[in-house]
Amino acid sequence: MTQPIVAPSLLAADFANLQRDLELINRSEADFLHFDVMDGVFVPNISFGFPILDVVRRYCQKPIDVHLMITDPDRYIDAFAEGGASVIHVHYEACTHLHRTLSHIREMGCRAGVVLNPHTSITNLEDILDQVDVILIMSVNPGFGGQSFIPHTLPKIARLKQLLLANNSPALIEVDGGVSLKNAPALLEAGADSLVAGSSVFGSPDPLEAIRQLKNSHKPMMA
Ligand code: DX5
Ligand code: ZN
Repeated sequence: MTQPIVAPSLLAADFANLQRDLELINRSEADFLHFDVMDGVFVPNISFGFPILDVVRRYCQKPIDVHLMITDPDRYIDAFAEGGASVIHVHYEACTHLHRTLSHIREMGCRAGVVLNPHTSITNLEDILDQVDVILIMSVNPGFGGQSFIPHTLPKIARLKQLLLANNSPALIEVDGGVSLKNAPALLEAGADSLVAGSSVFGSPDPLEAIRQLKNSHKPMMA
Protein backbone atom coordinates (compact mmCIF):
# COMPACT_ATOMS: atom_id res chain seq x y z
CA MET A 1 0.00 0.00 0.00
CA THR A 2 1.36 3.42 -0.89
CA GLN A 3 1.36 6.47 1.37
CA PRO A 4 -1.96 8.31 1.37
CA ILE A 5 -2.41 11.88 0.17
CA VAL A 6 -3.21 14.01 3.23
CA ALA A 7 -5.20 17.25 3.06
CA PRO A 8 -5.71 19.07 6.38
CA SER A 9 -8.94 21.07 6.40
CA LEU A 10 -8.57 24.81 7.02
CA LEU A 11 -12.05 24.88 8.57
CA ALA A 12 -10.55 23.57 11.82
CA ALA A 13 -7.63 26.05 11.91
CA ASP A 14 -7.37 28.91 14.40
CA PHE A 15 -8.53 31.97 12.43
CA ALA A 16 -7.02 34.30 15.00
CA ASN A 17 -3.68 32.78 14.03
CA LEU A 18 -4.24 31.94 10.39
CA GLN A 19 -0.73 32.83 9.19
CA ARG A 20 0.78 30.67 11.96
CA ASP A 21 -1.43 27.69 11.04
CA LEU A 22 -0.68 28.07 7.32
CA GLU A 23 3.05 28.14 8.05
CA LEU A 24 2.59 24.99 10.13
CA ILE A 25 0.97 23.31 7.12
CA ASN A 26 3.94 24.44 4.98
CA ARG A 27 6.36 22.70 7.36
CA SER A 28 4.25 19.54 7.50
CA GLU A 29 4.09 16.46 5.29
CA ALA A 30 0.62 17.52 4.06
CA ASP A 31 0.09 17.25 0.30
CA PHE A 32 -2.78 19.76 -0.02
CA LEU A 33 -4.68 22.30 2.03
CA HIS A 34 -8.43 21.51 1.95
CA PHE A 35 -10.53 24.68 1.61
CA ASP A 36 -14.25 24.32 2.50
CA VAL A 37 -16.62 26.87 0.96
CA MET A 38 -20.17 26.85 2.39
CA ASP A 39 -22.98 29.15 1.26
CA GLY A 40 -25.63 28.65 3.93
CA VAL A 41 -28.01 27.30 1.25
CA PHE A 42 -26.58 24.04 -0.04
CA VAL A 43 -25.41 23.31 3.53
CA PRO A 44 -26.72 24.79 6.80
CA ASN A 45 -23.56 26.78 7.53
CA ILE A 46 -21.48 29.62 6.05
CA SER A 47 -17.69 29.32 6.12
CA PHE A 48 -15.38 31.60 4.10
CA GLY A 49 -14.59 32.73 0.58
CA PHE A 50 -12.29 34.93 -1.45
CA PRO A 51 -10.70 37.18 1.23
CA ILE A 52 -9.50 34.06 3.05
CA LEU A 53 -8.43 32.44 -0.23
CA ASP A 54 -6.23 35.50 -0.83
CA VAL A 55 -4.55 34.99 2.56
CA VAL A 56 -4.10 31.28 1.87
CA ARG A 57 -2.55 32.02 -1.49
CA ARG A 58 -0.13 34.51 0.11
CA TYR A 59 1.06 32.29 2.95
CA CYS A 60 0.40 28.67 1.97
CA GLN A 61 2.88 26.83 -0.22
CA LYS A 62 0.78 23.67 -0.56
CA PRO A 63 -1.65 23.22 -3.45
CA ILE A 64 -5.24 24.10 -2.60
CA ASP A 65 -8.04 21.53 -2.68
CA VAL A 66 -11.27 23.55 -2.93
CA HIS A 67 -14.51 21.88 -1.77
CA LEU A 68 -17.51 23.89 -2.97
CA MET A 69 -20.57 23.25 -0.79
CA ILE A 70 -22.63 25.80 -2.73
CA THR A 71 -25.62 25.79 -5.06
CA ASP A 72 -24.96 26.49 -8.74
CA PRO A 73 -21.16 26.24 -8.42
CA ASP A 74 -20.66 27.11 -12.12
CA ARG A 75 -20.91 30.78 -11.15
CA TYR A 76 -17.66 30.62 -9.17
CA ILE A 77 -15.39 28.11 -10.92
CA ASP A 78 -13.40 30.74 -12.83
CA ALA A 79 -12.89 32.80 -9.68
CA PHE A 80 -11.59 29.83 -7.68
CA ALA A 81 -9.36 28.68 -10.53
CA GLU A 82 -7.94 32.19 -10.91
CA GLY A 83 -7.71 32.43 -7.12
CA GLY A 84 -5.20 29.58 -7.04
CA ALA A 85 -7.16 26.32 -6.67
CA SER A 86 -5.39 23.17 -7.87
CA VAL A 87 -8.42 20.93 -7.44
CA ILE A 88 -12.05 22.08 -7.52
CA HIS A 89 -14.69 19.73 -6.12
CA VAL A 90 -18.37 20.27 -6.88
CA HIS A 91 -21.23 18.33 -5.35
CA TYR A 92 -23.09 15.85 -7.54
CA GLU A 93 -26.29 17.05 -5.80
CA ALA A 94 -25.64 20.71 -6.77
CA CYS A 95 -24.95 20.28 -10.50
CA THR A 96 -27.67 20.03 -13.13
CA HIS A 97 -25.13 19.70 -15.95
CA LEU A 98 -22.29 17.90 -14.19
CA HIS A 99 -20.51 16.91 -17.42
CA ARG A 100 -20.28 20.55 -18.49
CA THR A 101 -19.21 21.71 -15.03
CA LEU A 102 -16.40 19.15 -14.71
CA SER A 103 -15.18 19.83 -18.27
CA HIS A 104 -15.07 23.53 -17.45
CA ILE A 105 -13.00 22.93 -14.29
CA ARG A 106 -10.44 21.09 -16.43
CA GLU A 107 -10.49 23.80 -19.10
CA MET A 108 -9.57 26.25 -16.35
CA GLY A 109 -6.44 24.18 -15.67
CA CYS A 110 -7.62 22.54 -12.44
CA ARG A 111 -8.24 18.93 -11.51
CA ALA A 112 -11.96 18.14 -11.46
CA GLY A 113 -13.51 16.59 -8.38
CA VAL A 114 -17.04 15.38 -7.80
CA VAL A 115 -18.40 14.99 -4.27
CA LEU A 116 -21.06 12.52 -3.15
CA ASN A 117 -23.12 13.14 -0.03
CA PRO A 118 -23.62 10.12 2.23
CA HIS A 119 -27.01 9.33 0.62
CA THR A 120 -25.81 9.58 -3.00
CA SER A 121 -25.03 6.30 -4.72
CA ILE A 122 -21.73 5.70 -6.51
CA THR A 123 -23.74 4.25 -9.41
CA ASN A 124 -24.49 7.88 -10.39
CA LEU A 125 -20.84 8.18 -11.47
CA GLU A 126 -20.87 5.47 -14.13
CA ASP A 127 -21.49 7.89 -17.01
CA ILE A 128 -19.15 10.64 -15.87
CA LEU A 129 -15.95 8.77 -15.01
CA ASP A 130 -13.98 10.14 -17.99
CA GLN A 131 -14.50 13.70 -16.77
CA VAL A 132 -13.40 13.12 -13.17
CA ASP A 133 -9.94 13.27 -11.61
CA VAL A 134 -11.00 12.85 -7.99
CA ILE A 135 -14.12 11.44 -6.33
CA LEU A 136 -14.70 12.88 -2.88
CA ILE A 137 -16.82 10.68 -0.65
CA MET A 138 -18.47 12.51 2.24
CA SER A 139 -18.28 10.45 5.41
CA VAL A 140 -20.45 12.98 7.29
CA ASN A 141 -23.31 15.19 6.12
CA PRO A 142 -21.46 18.29 4.92
CA GLY A 143 -21.69 21.60 6.74
CA PHE A 144 -19.68 21.26 9.92
CA GLY A 145 -16.33 20.04 11.15
CA GLY A 146 -15.98 17.71 14.10
CA GLN A 147 -18.83 15.31 13.24
CA SER A 148 -18.79 11.53 13.68
CA PHE A 149 -17.67 9.32 10.82
CA ILE A 150 -20.53 7.39 9.15
CA PRO A 151 -19.40 3.71 9.06
CA HIS A 152 -21.35 2.94 5.85
CA THR A 153 -18.61 4.94 4.07
CA LEU A 154 -16.24 1.97 4.25
CA PRO A 155 -18.22 -0.48 2.06
CA LYS A 156 -19.15 2.47 -0.19
CA ILE A 157 -15.47 3.20 -0.85
CA ALA A 158 -14.78 -0.49 -1.47
CA ARG A 159 -17.59 -0.59 -4.08
CA LEU A 160 -16.33 2.61 -5.67
CA LYS A 161 -12.83 1.14 -5.94
CA GLN A 162 -14.31 -1.85 -7.78
CA LEU A 163 -16.24 0.47 -10.12
CA LEU A 164 -13.06 2.41 -10.94
CA LEU A 165 -11.06 -0.78 -11.56
CA ALA A 166 -13.81 -2.22 -13.76
CA ASN A 167 -13.76 0.94 -15.89
CA ASN A 168 -9.96 1.38 -15.93
CA SER A 169 -10.47 4.78 -14.34
CA PRO A 170 -7.40 6.49 -12.85
CA ALA A 171 -9.61 8.74 -10.66
CA LEU A 172 -8.53 9.06 -7.04
CA ILE A 173 -10.81 8.41 -4.07
CA GLU A 174 -10.78 11.09 -1.38
CA VAL A 175 -12.70 10.92 1.89
CA ASP A 176 -13.91 13.84 4.02
CA GLY A 177 -15.51 13.98 7.45
CA GLY A 178 -14.59 12.46 10.80
CA VAL A 179 -11.30 11.09 9.45
CA SER A 180 -8.85 10.22 12.21
CA LEU A 181 -5.85 8.05 12.93
CA LYS A 182 -8.30 5.44 14.20
CA ASN A 183 -10.28 4.98 10.95
CA ALA A 184 -7.53 5.91 8.45
CA PRO A 185 -6.10 2.37 8.07
CA ALA A 186 -9.57 0.93 7.31
CA LEU A 187 -10.28 3.74 4.82
CA LEU A 188 -7.03 3.03 3.00
CA GLU A 189 -7.69 -0.69 3.08
CA ALA A 190 -11.12 -0.05 1.49
CA GLY A 191 -9.48 1.88 -1.36
CA ALA A 192 -9.18 5.55 -0.34
CA ASP A 193 -6.18 7.41 -1.81
CA SER A 194 -6.60 10.74 -0.06
CA LEU A 195 -7.64 11.74 3.46
CA VAL A 196 -9.14 15.11 4.45
CA ALA A 197 -8.77 15.78 8.17
CA GLY A 198 -9.86 18.84 10.13
CA SER A 199 -10.35 18.32 13.86
CA SER A 200 -8.05 15.31 14.07
CA VAL A 201 -5.19 17.55 12.83
CA PHE A 202 -5.86 21.02 14.26
CA GLY A 203 -7.50 19.65 17.42
CA SER A 204 -4.40 17.62 18.19
CA PRO A 205 -1.81 18.96 20.65
CA ASP A 206 0.80 18.38 17.91
CA PRO A 207 -0.71 18.95 14.44
CA LEU A 208 2.61 18.29 12.66
CA GLU A 209 2.84 14.88 14.29
CA ALA A 210 -0.86 14.18 13.58
CA ILE A 211 -0.21 14.83 9.86
CA ARG A 212 2.92 12.69 9.94
CA GLN A 213 0.98 9.83 11.50
CA LEU A 214 -1.84 10.14 8.94
CA LYS A 215 0.78 9.96 6.16
CA ASN A 216 2.04 6.75 7.74
CA SER A 217 -1.34 5.23 8.54
CA HIS A 218 -0.94 2.78 5.64
CA LYS A 219 1.67 0.89 7.63
CA PRO A 220 0.44 -1.88 9.93
CA MET A 221 0.44 -0.83 13.58
CA MET A 222 3.34 -2.16 15.64
CA ALA A 223 2.25 -4.75 18.21
C1 DX5 B 1 -17.43 19.20 6.34
C2 DX5 B 1 -16.21 19.64 5.57
C3 DX5 B 1 -14.98 18.97 6.01
C4 DX5 B 1 -14.57 19.32 7.42
C5 DX5 B 1 -13.96 18.09 7.99
O1 DX5 B 1 -18.57 19.65 5.72
O2 DX5 B 1 -16.36 19.37 4.19
O3 DX5 B 1 -13.89 19.19 5.13
O4 DX5 B 1 -13.66 20.38 7.51
O5 DX5 B 1 -13.76 18.26 9.34
P1 DX5 B 1 -13.50 17.03 10.32
O6 DX5 B 1 -12.24 16.35 9.87
O7 DX5 B 1 -13.37 17.71 11.65
O8 DX5 B 1 -14.70 16.12 10.24
ZN1 ZN C 1 -14.52 19.41 2.90
